[in-house]
Amino acid sequence: MLYAAPDKLPMTRQEILSELQRFVDCHPFPDRPVILEAGCGSRSHVAFPAASRMVGIDISEKQLVRNDALQERIMGDIQDYDFAPGSFDAIICWDVLEHLKEPTRALDRFFDAIRANGLVILGLPNILSLWGLTTKYSPYWLHVWFYRKVFKKQEAGRDDNPPFLTYLRWSLAPGALQCYAQGRGLSVALYRQYDPLLPSVQRRKKWITRLYVILARTLRLLTLGRLGGTGNSGLILVLHKNNMEQNDNEHDNIS
Ligand SMILES: C[S@@+](CC[C@H](N)C(=O)[O-])C[C@H]1O[C@@H](n2cnc3c(N)ncnc32)[C@H](O)[C@@H]1O
Repeated sequence: MLYAAPDKLPMTRQEILSELQRFVDCHPFPDRPVILEAGCGSRSHVAFPAASRMVGIDISEKQLVRNDALQERIMGDIQDYDFAPGSFDAIICWDVLEHLKEPTRALDRFFDAIRANGLVILGLPNILSLWGLTTKYSPYWLHVWFYRKVFKKQEAGRDDNPPFLTYLRWSLAPGALQCYAQGRGLSVALYRQYDPLLPSVQRRKKWITRLYVILARTLRLLTLGRLGGTGNSGLILVLHKNNMEQNDNEHDNIS
């Protein structure tokens, strides 16, 4: 999706979250689902059934303590932590994969820990967008400066507050991520691109948005549509773990 003009905003974080919430609300969870917030930080973005048991894991104790939506807190690294196989009905990992040196190690653990018919919900920046590329290749001090000056967050980068160090590996590009999940037996149930930050930047600094749009469009032209563009700096991917019995039945019917 291209910006028609900087005044015309793309799908916002709030609109995308509402769509995601409707999707989750329609999912047939069991009576007492167990949900994992991976890299839970201090807040949750999606509501799960009221009877859910909410488990959170984060590498930062301070972030874990700040999150009051959890019934169980685990301090650990999601790249290493061994969850029991098939122990969660949904795993949500929001704005975390980009901060991992080896995100596929975390994904492997999620794919083992999710039950059949469960959902793995991922929210992350799109490395193919100008925003993603800038975040990946700019120094951390610039991220902190941006949060303080543009978002007016004076606590940014201190006391385990965002922004966090970002690696945004190429394995997280939309196509690569979808192939990886499908190779592990999950199917893509929902996939959206949106713009998590630009609308809020535009409210504060219109000139940054205008400059961004010009650069993003130029990059898109120069790379023949492979990189850049606007309205695509955030990704949401909902993966569904297929029911193995159903797969086996389908296989039997075919053979
Ligand atoms: C940008 S915050 C996102 C927090 C929350 N998911 C949200 O959307 O508000 C990233 C979180 O990931 C956590 N984190 C970073 N690396 C991690 C790792 N290897 N294992 C577990 N958590 C990690 C950070 O401590 C931080 O709380």
